[in-house]
Parts: sequence; C-alpha cells; structure tokens
Amino acid sequence: MSDLRPTAVIVLAAGEGTRMKSTTPKVLHTIGGRSLVAHAIRAARGTSPQHLAVVVRHERDRVAEHVRQVDPEAVVADQDDVKGTGRAVECALEALPAGLDGTVVVTYGDVPLLTSETLEGLVAAHHAAGNAVTVITATLEDPTGYGRVIRDAEGSVAGIVEQKDADEQQRAIREVNSGLYAFDAAVLREALSEVGTDNAQGEKYLTDVVAIARGRGLAVRAHLVADLWQTEGVNDKVQLARLGAELNRRTVEQAMRDGAIVIDPATTWLDADVTIGPDTVVRPGTQILGASTIGRDCVIGPDTTLTDVEVGDGASVVRTQAELAEIGPGASVGPFSYLRPGTRLGAQGKIGGFVETKNADIGAGAKVPHLTYCGDATIGEGANIGAGTIFANYDGVTKGHTNVGAHSFVGSNSVIVAPRTIADGAYVAAGSAVVSDVGPGQLAVTRAQQRNVDGWVARRRAGTKTDDAARTAQAAQAATSSESTETTQGQPTTETKDARR
Ligand code: UD1
Ligand code: CA
Repeated sequence: MSDLRPTAVIVLAAGEGTRMKSTTPKVLHTIGGRSLVAHAIRAARGTSPQHLAVVVRHERDRVAEHVRQVDPEAVVADQDDVKGTGRAVECALEALPAGLDGTVVVTYGDVPLLTSETLEGLVAAHHAAGNAVTVITATLEDPTGYGRVIRDAEGSVAGIVEQKDADEQQRAIREVNSGLYAFDAAVLREALSEVGTDNAQGEKYLTDVVAIARGRGLAVRAHLVADLWQTEGVNDKVQLARLGAELNRRTVEQAMRDGAIVIDPATTWLDADVTIGPDTVVRPGTQILGASTIGRDCVIGPDTTLTDVEVGDGASVVRTQAELAEIGPGASVGPFSYLRPGTRLGAQGKIGGFVETKNADIGAGAKVPHLTYCGDATIGEGANIGAGTIFANYDGVTKGHTNVGAHSFVGSNSVIVAPRTIADGAYVAAGSAVVSDVGPGQLAVTRAQQRNVDGWVARRRAGTKTDDAARTAQAAQAATSSESTETTQGQPTTETKDARR
C-alpha cells in the first residue's frame, strides 16, 4: 500500500469566495465543528502523503494561521497575482521540494465531504491504469457552472472546457470536472509551464493540463465517483447549510452504527470529532459539539447542548447547557442546568435544576440539587449544597475561591462569601450568610432569631379568610388539647410586644 501514497497533496484555498458574502474567508466557515479547509486537510492527511501544501491568497494571514493550527506540518504556499487554479498548483509546487516525482493529488479547500478513502480510490485507479492524469468526474442533472468533461472515441478524457468557454454543444454535456485530480508530478510540472491565460476569465486553468497531457499521447482518464456529496463545493451560505446537514446526517448515522441510540436523528447535531459510547441514548433536540466524548449507557437530552464536554459512563444529562466541563460516571445533571467552563462533577454526583456552575470541582457523590450558583468552588465528596445556595465569588474587584469539605451540609438559602473554607464534616444552618470559615464538626448559624407575634392576624387582618382560618384552627386546638401550652426547647419564642407592626 505504501507505493500508493501520493508524493504530495495540494489543497487549493486561495480563492475569494465572494458569493459567501462574508467577512470570514470562505474556507474558515465551519460545518460539523471544523472549518471547510480543516475537513479538506484531514482528508488529504488521511492518504499519508509525503508533502501536504495548502495554497492561500485571499485573507492570507487568517487562513495561513488557521492552517498552521490545524496541521503544523502542512506547507503554506502563497499564490501570486496570476489568477487561476493552474497558477495555484504551480505556486504549491514551487513551495515544495524541486523535482518531485510520483503522484500529486489536487483537492479544494471548500469541498468538505470528500473522504480520504475516495482520494485513496483515486490514487489506486490512477496507478492501476498507468495514467498520467486521472480526474474525478461526476454526472449531474444540472451541470451549470462546472467545467465539462470532453471524452474522445476511446472514452479517455480529451479535455475539460469551462462553462464560460464552452459552446452550446459542450454545455449540454452533463459529466463535470469535480476539480479533484491525481497527476504524474513531472507531467503536471511540464504541462503547467505551457498553460496560458487565453480564455474567458484570463486565468491560468489547471484544467488545461488535461488537454496538454492528452495531446502528448499520455493516458488521461476519468474516475467516476457515485457519491456526489463528496465532490460538492461550498460557494454560498445555502450550500454551507446543505452540506452541513448532510455531514451531520452521516455523523449521526456513524454514531448509531458505533452503538449509540439516537431517538431523532433529524434534531440531533453531532460535530465530526464527537465520540459516543454504545447504548448511550441521545434524545431529541440535542447538540453534542466540539471535542465532546460521551461514555456508554448514558442518557443525553432532550434539548441539551454540550460543547467540549466529557461525560462518564452511565451519566444522565437532561435539558442542560454545558461547555468545557467534565461529568463523572453515574452522575446526574439537569434538568435546566448550566455548566460553564471548568466544571467538574465527580462520580455519582448531582447538579440539579436551575443550577449554574463555573470553575467548580464537585466531588464524588456530592450534590448541588436545586437553584444554586456555584462559581469558583471546590466541594468535597458526599457534601450536600442546599437549595438556593449562592457562592458569592466576586466582590466587584477580585474573584475568590470557596472550599466546602467532604460530607458537609450547607443549608438552603445560604450565601457563602468567598474566599471561604467550610471544613470537612461541618454544617451551615439554612439562611446563613457565611463570612468566616467554619471548622470541622461546627455548625455555622448567622441568622436572626424568629419571633412569633400572637394575635397579629386577628388585629391586622380581621375579617379576611386568613382570619377565619386562624379562628377555626384555634378553636379546634382549644377543643382537642387540654394539655398545657408550655414551650419545649428549640421552639420559637413567643412575643406579644410590637403587635401594631
Ligand atoms: C473549477 C474548475 C472546473 C470545475 C470546478 C469544480 C478550473 C479552471 N475550473 O472551476 O472545471 O468544474 O472547479 O468545482 O480549474 N482557487 C485558488 N486559486 C485561484 C483560483 C481558485 O486557489 O486562483 C481555488 C479556490 O479557492 C477553490 C478552487 O480553487 O477552492 C476552485 O476555484 P473556483 O473559482 O471555485 O473554480 P471554478 O471556477 O468553480
Ligand atoms: Ca467552485
């Protein structure tokens, strides 16, 4: 197989892409969580070429920087003022070691569904037939805009004529040039030196290499690809969405073949790099994006968006928005939870309804079940954070960190003012504002004592239904209880003062 490795793959990405009507260069638009050019580079890299070159010009610095991030080994080749696909390839060859031999593959930076397998098939066919040039072609219902493939009597490719240069008869041809080729390196180099710019667009066409090679009696053949999606380019935002949807359909299908249970593929969006373990159920309305990895036997969704999230086996994540978070095995998140970057939930832990977390390390089996903001916190294993607890992490100037120890309990509706440490095995009474540290085994209580004002309803709300209810209850109490009304320890004190409030 190693002799089938191309010497070089050249990805053309210098074009302007004016029909995108965007300030973002066309090849930097994304589908499936990757830029168009990243898809192209990945397909190219998959053929294990000795060299990979990406040709840039429009928005050169942005595209080049992105290419370096995606594939640091790729050679960025600059196209000069001469326009056209032929000149683009020439510039790539100039940026690569001189005198390359073997096979050079040319692809486009805006054809995102093309796979390595298809390119390998192209190279294999090119070798098997002993071709100088092999062109991937497709037969389209509507060939408008594409270069038409001119076949000779033997069925070889005699030339490619651009739409703008074609006569009526040529325009009727439905077999089109996809723009993806395998070339013998020497033939390519020599033929390109002969290509001029005498055509309707005044460009140096790569397609002219075909006729030049054929004119020398070399073998030039077509390689038909049945899967038309793989050769379709993105020229505008309609095509971007169309190819994005098809890529997603393929990704979701692959996830199911790998063992995931997807209830509604039509409303499930998976980025290309996402992995999902077997028997995990993905419910409708769910997007799993970026480099997210989901374990096996999980339940994800409905209506959940996970971006760069790691979910352990057997976890459940329901109606949740999460980014750059780790959810441990067997943990439970949602419904209506918002996990911001830096959230780590331990095994069997819980983040419940209307809870927002950020930069929070929540230990194994710890629970933050209801209505809480938990930012900049470390929570020990088995701790329980009561409903409505606020981790006040910001004083308007700096952010502080809070530690809650293992197996500690924070009562409902407490505010913990950072930086603060609540030790292992400590309690915070409900409704407390915690402004100093709490030691092991201590209970922190910071609230005012309760007063019950006798007869207040009768005086201040006389004649209301509340007053009626109170009287009925008092009468019932008096009837059923002949015991003394002494106050037992722990019950609220009763006051009669202040009755006029
Ligand atoms: C090209 C082909 C046409 C084919 C079609 C398939 C030529 C002359 N024509 O036409 O036969 O049917 O693709 O989509 O090759 N590019 C550069 N530098 C340039 C010009 C283009 O790098 O100077 C890149 C573009 O970024 C793009 C690709 O080459 O990725 C194709 O360019 P485009 O202008 O879309 O070519 P078409 O006119 O569509
Ligand atoms: Ca195009």
